[in-house]
Amino acid sequence: MYSNREKIMLPMKFLSWLIAVSMILLILSSLSLHQFSNNYDNSSIARSVFNFILNNNSSIHLKDTNIHEVGFQVSGHTMNMDEMGQLHGSVCDQSRALLRVYMYDLPSDFHFGLLGWKGNANQAWPSVSIPNRYPPYPGGLNLQHSTEYWLTLDLLASNTANVDRPCSAIRVQNSSEADVIFVPFFSSLSYNRHSKVQGHETASVDRMLQDKLVQFLKGRVEWKRLGGRDHLIVAHHPNSMLFARNKLGSAMFVLSDFGRYPTKLANLEKDVIAPYKHMVRTIPISNSPSFNERSILMYFRGAIYRKDGGAIRQVLYNLLKDEKDVYFAFGSVQASGIKQAGKGMASSKFCLNIAGDTPSSNRLFDAIASHCVPVIISDEIELPFEDVLDYSEFCLFVRASDALKKGYLLNLLRGIKQENWTKMWERLKNASRHFEYQCPSQAGDAVDMIWQTVSRKKSATQLSVHRKNRYSRSHSS
Ligand SMILES: *[C@@H]1O[C@H](CO)[C@@H](O)[C@H](O)[C@H]1NC(C)=O
Ligand SMILES: *[C@@H]1O[C@H](CO)[C@@H](O)[C@H](O)[C@H]1NC(C)=O
Ligand SMILES: *[C@@H]1O[C@H](CO)[C@@H](O)[C@H](O)[C@H]1NC(C)=O
Ligand SMILES: *[C@@H]1O[C@H](CO)[C@@H](O)[C@H](O)[C@H]1NC(C)=O
Ligand SMILES: *[C@@H]1O[C@H](CO)[C@@H](O)[C@H](O)[C@H]1NC(C)=O
Repeated sequence: MYSNREKIMLPMKFLSWLIAVSMILLILSSLSLHQFSNNYDNSSIARSVFNFILNNNSSIHLKDTNIHEVGFQVSGHTMNMDEMGQLHGSVCDQSRALLRVYMYDLPSDFHFGLLGWKGNANQAWPSVSIPNRYPPYPGGLNLQHSTEYWLTLDLLASNTANVDRPCSAIRVQNSSEADVIFVPFFSSLSYNRHSKVQGHETASVDRMLQDKLVQFLKGRVEWKRLGGRDHLIVAHHPNSMLFARNKLGSAMFVLSDFGRYPTKLANLEKDVIAPYKHMVRTIPISNSPSFNERSILMYFRGAIYRKDGGAIRQVLYNLLKDEKDVYFAFGSVQASGIKQAGKGMASSKFCLNIAGDTPSSNRLFDAIASHCVPVIISDEIELPFEDVLDYSEFCLFVRASDALKKGYLLNLLRGIKQENWTKMWERLKNASRHFEYQCPSQAGDAVDMIWQTVSRKKSATQLSVHRKNRYSRSHSS
């Protein structure tokens, strides 16, 4: 939430700067065109101007004919879109992409319509060509589960000229050419916003959408081809897709954890664990408080009373509540408390992550964004991208049974010297980019990491398809 606002402000300043620079260039170029033409290709100013031109053909303040003249003349020769595209990052081409993704053009009721977006008659998707102009994902804490939104935006961006993003996934228009079929249903938002039965309705909108989705998918040739195994369905909120998940269990899910899924339905073999979008503001790496600047040894904020795996919280609270360098606060983090939580975490050396009513929680990702070394007490937790990230380099894992021993946790944390903590903190800062959702996506951010993970699951999917084929292939044709 907070960082989004910052991102809106920055480009505005940048744009005004660019406009000023463009104006100067315009004048200069008409005065002495030849002087400039030789070294413009490498000039960063020229590049910025190109970016500006490329981002929007009909500029905001300048007439677009003028801009095109500047762009084309100062470079000394006529450039085509491809050449210009390379200056800023061209649409990635299909053969270069790690993952070719076909996305169903579902009616907007399933996705951006839930955000209040209405396209015109022949517009299936919002435009993502201008950063921060696409419909925003609503409402503070809903954002935790916004994975569905970022992945969809990224696929749209993959077909949009001049969006600078990694070429991990590209949306293809022909499903036969796709490695993966993406189902653009904003299931978490649908659950958060529409799971209550309203007035005279017999079923909630969320349920209705899920039923329609099942019906739609089961009728598609794409689904029938592999029984849905190559389909990617995002169900990040633990209660999303509650009605449909059994019927669509052959698909790959993008989940926050497996807590509420039977193993048969969801498992690491086929499914992808995606991070929550953190709620606290990301600390700039260059400005992260160091060991001595973090006065709190250990920080925890959350609800104390939890069902299921959460009983441990109560016991820990009783063990730790009298320690003066430990901050143990009650209450779920409401939207208004996020800023305070961010401050607390940024002032702490270690941040506790205890099993709640689900094994995972957004708290871990808040800790990472605050560069507060996570202490994970959750035996069942699944961590995003763990096949490529070694969390033990920047997190401490403590078994629940150990954490409940008197003195254990504090002795452990107090025994970690500045030098050792700093090493973890350095690695944590470096790893934190893997948990950032954004559009356009960047190499190694959460969106990019999810696509890469999906691409690694491809072989498991293939294995399962081939095994199924053993006795079922017909050789008569
Ligand atoms: C370019 O910017 C103008 C003004 O902000 C906007 O109305 C228009 O839709 C944009 N065009 C494209 C192609 O993005
Ligand atoms: C910019 O204009 C060119 C030619 O008028 C067009 O082909 C291209 O699609 C436009 N790009 C954007 C981003 O609107
Ligand atoms: C889609 O791709 C398949 C395989 O490459 C090809 O046979 C088919 O003609 C394509 N369909 C369309 C509509 O282009
Ligand atoms: C701290 O780091 C040193 C080496 O840098 C290592 O020998 C020592 O075992 C570490 N201590 C702890 C508690 O991890
Ligand atoms: C930073 O992270 C990347 C990828 O996670 C890793 O390859 C690299 O070695 C890390 N660098 C440092 C200095 O830890």
